Amino acid sequence: FSDFLTDTFHRQHDYLRISLTERCNLRCVYCMPEEGVPLSPPRELLTTPEIVMLSSLFVSQGVNKIRLTGGEPTIRKDILSLMKQIGALRPHGLRELCLTTNGIALHRKLEGMVEAGLTGVNLSLDTLDPWQFQIMTRRKGFDAVMKSIERVFELNKHGAGIKLKINAVIMRGINDREIIPFVEMTREKDIEVRFIEYMPFDGNKWNEGKMFSYNEMLDRIREKYRGLEKVRDHKNDTSKTFKIPGFVGKIGFITSMTHNFCGTCNRLRITSDGNLKVCLFGNAEVSLRDILRESNDGNPIDEETYKTMRRIAADRQLEISNEPAPLNLAANERRLLEVIG
Ligand code: GTP
Ligand code: 5AD
Ligand code: SF4
Repeated sequence: FSDFLTDTFHRQHDYLRISLTERCNLRCVYCMPEEGVPLSPPRELLTTPEIVMLSSLFVSQGVNKIRLTGGEPTIRKDILSLMKQIGALRPHGLRELCLTTNGIALHRKLEGMVEAGLTGVNLSLDTLDPWQFQIMTRRKGFDAVMKSIERVFELNKHGAGIKLKINAVIMRGINDREIIPFVEMTREKDIEVRFIEYMPFDGNKWNEGKMFSYNEMLDRIREKYRGLEKVRDHKNDTSKTFKIPGFVGKIGFITSMTHNFCGTCNRLRITSDGNLKVCLFGNAEVSLRDILRESNDGNPIDEETYKTMRRIAADRQLEISNEPAPLNLAANERRLLEVIG
């Protein structure tokens, strides 16, 4: 493993998240205001060749998992061709190519994505009730999301091997009554449903009262099911995984608000305008796009990016020693939208 991606805490950053767009076709209440987020001028966004070039650089240095995110990545017009080019990095060390999506447009593109090398889908779905869906996302589209889920199962029956996780952000008084129905989804299906603690950021009207904590979720689930079993987590997972005895699938919890997991974080992030960010909660960003564009010799990245990475790793140490407090997230700009998205 190259020391290029090893930080001062000896964490090996082998997992890269790339945001393909700031845009989204939904307006989830905990994420975006009704009017959407301010958009960057197109020339500031990474082009597809730039994304491929960066992916290739990071894979050559030891990244083995790439997750495409947004906004909503499936609305990028050339996503299939982009995925195909990233998928072609598999012989060079890329092991997983994953997508985080709201599932609205997924069913139309899924087959092509699997051909391109897609191995995992994290699908955001906060309710199993079509009316509630419209309230939480401020848009219609529940049936399309369900169709995407069905499509994953169908392709898996034919050996596609897509690992499916459902992400549900739980908000008190809004969808906490759906915890049990979500757990039920794992009875017969080989999926993982992950419950996410509601996090604050700029403009999402977070308040502590609406946050439903991990401990409360566990209590709610234990009231209903006996013998909830802990499943061993993978070394860099952000979620804590469990299973109901006899159920096929698993459940997980992303406890960003009540139990931090910085110590095992192995993620790097590239925003849609080409900034590299190591920590979700940190402000340190550096423009890989500018580095790429400033040199015209066709083989621009190595030395300069290397130095940049070392600088970022040093920043990371600072962030950790300052104990980033999730509750201060609101001050942490709309950027957060993109780096978790
Ligand atoms: P896999 O572990 O690869 O399945 O993906 P993931 O859980 O990292 O990605 P996903 O896009 O599904 O994100 C789910 C949630 O994880 C997001 O809503 C964030 O709340 C949370 N998350 C992801 N990375 C971090 C992180 O570094 N710090 C914190 N606090 N939360 C994160
Ligand atoms: N709190 C917790 N999770 C959030 N997500 C978006 N905004 C928030 C928030 N305020 C989740 C989405 C998606 C994941 C990538 O991030 O539901 O599943
Ligand atoms: Fe779009 Fe995801 Fe934000 Fe919902 S949570 S508005 S689907 S980016």
